[in-house]
Amino acid sequence: MQERGTFGRLGFVLAAAGSAIGLGNIWKFPYITYANEGGTFVLIYLVAIVAFGAPIMFAEILIGRNTTQSPVSAFSALSSSLQKSKAWVLTGWLGIAAGFVILSYYSVVAGWTIYYFGKCMTWSFNGFGPEQAANLGKDFGAFLGNGPLQILFHALFMGATMGVVILGVKGGIERSTKILMPVLFSILVLLCGTSIFTPGFGDAIGFLFHIGPLSADAILEAVGHAFFTLSLGMGAMITYGSYVSKKDSILKASFQVCLLDTVIAIMACVIMFSIIFSVPEAERATTFSKSATILFTTLPRMFYELPGGAILSPIFYLLVGFAALSSTISLMEVVVAYFIDEKGWARKKATLLVGGGIFLFGIPSALSLGASEFFSNAKILGDKSTGIFETMDYLASNWLLPVGGLLTALFVGWALPNAFTQAELEEGHGPFPYHAAWKFLLRFICPIGILCVIWNVA
Ligand code: TRP
Repeated sequence: MQERGTFGRLGFVLAAAGSAIGLGNIWKFPYITYANEGGTFVLIYLVAIVAFGAPIMFAEILIGRNTTQSPVSAFSALSSSLQKSKAWVLTGWLGIAAGFVILSYYSVVAGWTIYYFGKCMTWSFNGFGPEQAANLGKDFGAFLGNGPLQILFHALFMGATMGVVILGVKGGIERSTKILMPVLFSILVLLCGTSIFTPGFGDAIGFLFHIGPLSADAILEAVGHAFFTLSLGMGAMITYGSYVSKKDSILKASFQVCLLDTVIAIMACVIMFSIIFSVPEAERATTFSKSATILFTTLPRMFYELPGGAILSPIFYLLVGFAALSSTISLMEVVVAYFIDEKGWARKKATLLVGGGIFLFGIPSALSLGASEFFSNAKILGDKSTGIFETMDYLASNWLLPVGGLLTALFVGWALPNAFTQAELEEGHGPFPYHAAWKFLLRFICPIGILCVIWNVA
């Protein structure tokens, strides 16, 4: 086996936050919140973060740090040393599959941020007026329909991810997130501050926090997104946990990651909805589709009205690209670490083969937003999703991650003895008086909650 290396204290929080904070917060959360009418959806999401997200995050990091292994080896090592069923290793396998599937379409969206970086540069130099604003939606549609461009940017992003993963944990992952996350956060704070002065700000806040009816499907989506946004349910945090030092507190780090992730998601919504609600209601439906595009069809409006916006807008898309990169790294690292730990491959070989495979697997997703009639309209799962891109996202966020989270909760809740989990959580932290409450969540509340959700929809 190769030398594994460990994160420094801040390095871990930043790398884990880097994994958690990504397109899930800035691109996906605002658009699914918009599509699900805000309010209640946000509330369910927040409940899911506290009741399922945080407890499962402790569980995953605990498994990783205790075993210093990636998911498949971690589950098999723990189940054999504690004489539990070998079948738990399936959880690890499911995670590898989820990583493969998620990265394949995530990288497509991540590629859009690079393209929009370039586009904003053009606007900044050539001017952005009412005509450009009116054409934002149309332009974006044309870009989605351009197959070669979609594949090109997907390829660029996969290449960048592979470049970092090849450098390994310390060299690549820790160093890059340390600088980029604080800068991204600062720009978001600035935009949030600006949004207070937009006419739509009040309505945006109202929309985010009103209570109304919600469908079972929307509840599933909120819970699934809680897993997605915290990078849970597929062993990413097990893998990162395996690089955490015994001197660090798992609890404190997890809490910080959950908090940062949630704050950034809500900030992204405030910014986006302030712009959306500043447009008169009659025009809103034609200006902003309730779809995956709002990050690219709303924000430029705000930027180019801001003093200094011409400078900020390209920087913003670049930073979103970096936030996405720190997430794609973690997705790829799960799959790569498997081949390193289990198959004894060299890091370089594992990265090249895994990255190449995921790139190819992502091509149908890249072409399924208009470029290819066939991929765009495919209904593999019946009416649940249209097109390969949507189907992959539906499968991963609504099934693979919740099921992975369920199995992890059951494993740590029931299969790992109390003395064992308590000792591991207290190592590097000191006494943890809520151990019993946490176990109760893992044993009963998480499994029942997740099962109800799955039951409702299946
Ligand atoms: N959490 C990231 C986001 O919100 C995406 C992500 C990275 C992820 N690694 C993951 C999702 C592992 C699920 C599992 O953008």
